[in-house]
Amino acid sequence: MATPEGSPDLRGKVALVTGASSGIGEALARALAGQGARVAIAARRGERIHALADELTATGAEVLAVPTDVTDESAVQSLVAQTVARFGGLDILIPNAGFGYRAPIVEGDTARWKAMLDTNVYGVLLSLHYGVPHILARGRGDVILLGSVAGRTVTTGGAAYSASKSAVRAISEALRQEMSRKNVRVTLLEPGVVASEFQAVADYPPGFIDNWLGGTPPLLPVDIASAVLAVLALPPHVSLNEILLRPTGQTNP
Ligand SMILES: NC(=O)c1ccc[n+]([C@@H]2O[C@H](COP(=O)([O-])OP(=O)(O)OC[C@H]3O[C@@H](n4cnc5c(N)ncnc54)[C@H](OP(=O)(O)O)[C@@H]3O)[C@@H](O)[C@H]2O)c1
Repeated sequence: MATPEGSPDLRGKVALVTGASSGIGEALARALAGQGARVAIAARRGERIHALADELTATGAEVLAVPTDVTDESAVQSLVAQTVARFGGLDILIPNAGFGYRAPIVEGDTARWKAMLDTNVYGVLLSLHYGVPHILARGRGDVILLGSVAGRTVTTGGAAYSASKSAVRAISEALRQEMSRKNVRVTLLEPGVVASEFQAVADYPPGFIDNWLGGTPPLLPVDIASAVLAVLALPPHVSLNEILLRPTGQTNP
């Protein structure tokens, strides 16, 4: 349900966001809590998510921080169980945790590829496998997945990251079909460049992003959060399945 201003009224809703220790996930947690949702936040850096939970709790929000590695099946199972035990169910699931690593195929660090695919693909599948049954138990709800413009196109050095985000695109469409008669809306967000810790984690060389932006501003995590709130504000019979959003100045990819 939307408020007259067009923002969703999320009071009484329970959201679970992975990768909430920085960037997009942190902005999502803030935005969802700001609309009245009770929010479970997860990431490996426990001190970060506990600090965020403390900050939001001080504003009157209900936030549960659960240190979690999304590649660890029993940890994801426990994350979902703790969320449901604390808040009584689940309405909005955002398996956002992920990272990038670019390298030509003959030069790439194979262990880094494996960690990235485990996180970006297997971690998403685990989060959905354990989380979606609780949304189904509510009778309706939302799943929002973080793909990337890199899931639609590939550039040199981007084989593994683009493969991971193409996989998220496939997972999103399969889930959409599986949920379409069950009142669960599925949205794939495919951002271009978003300023976050992503670029540092990916070890992008200085100036790399500027090749894409030409000195124009990137998206901010709060822009992604605004798009998510817009999706959640739509009437229940409207499912915005795919959103490709680039910074206006991003020409390629
Ligand atoms: N930034 C961009 O340009 C961009 C563009 C398109 C799509 N995306 C996607 O958006 C999502 C969020 O990225 P971001 O830009 O917000 O980057 P970010 O600031 O680096 O945040 C990534 C988050 O993922 C978490 N994470 C990584 N591995 C994890 C694991 N194994 N278990 C649990 N949490 C893990 C990190 O927390 P810990 O390190 O504390 O675990 C962090 O909270 C990713 O899926 C990314 O691929 C980003």
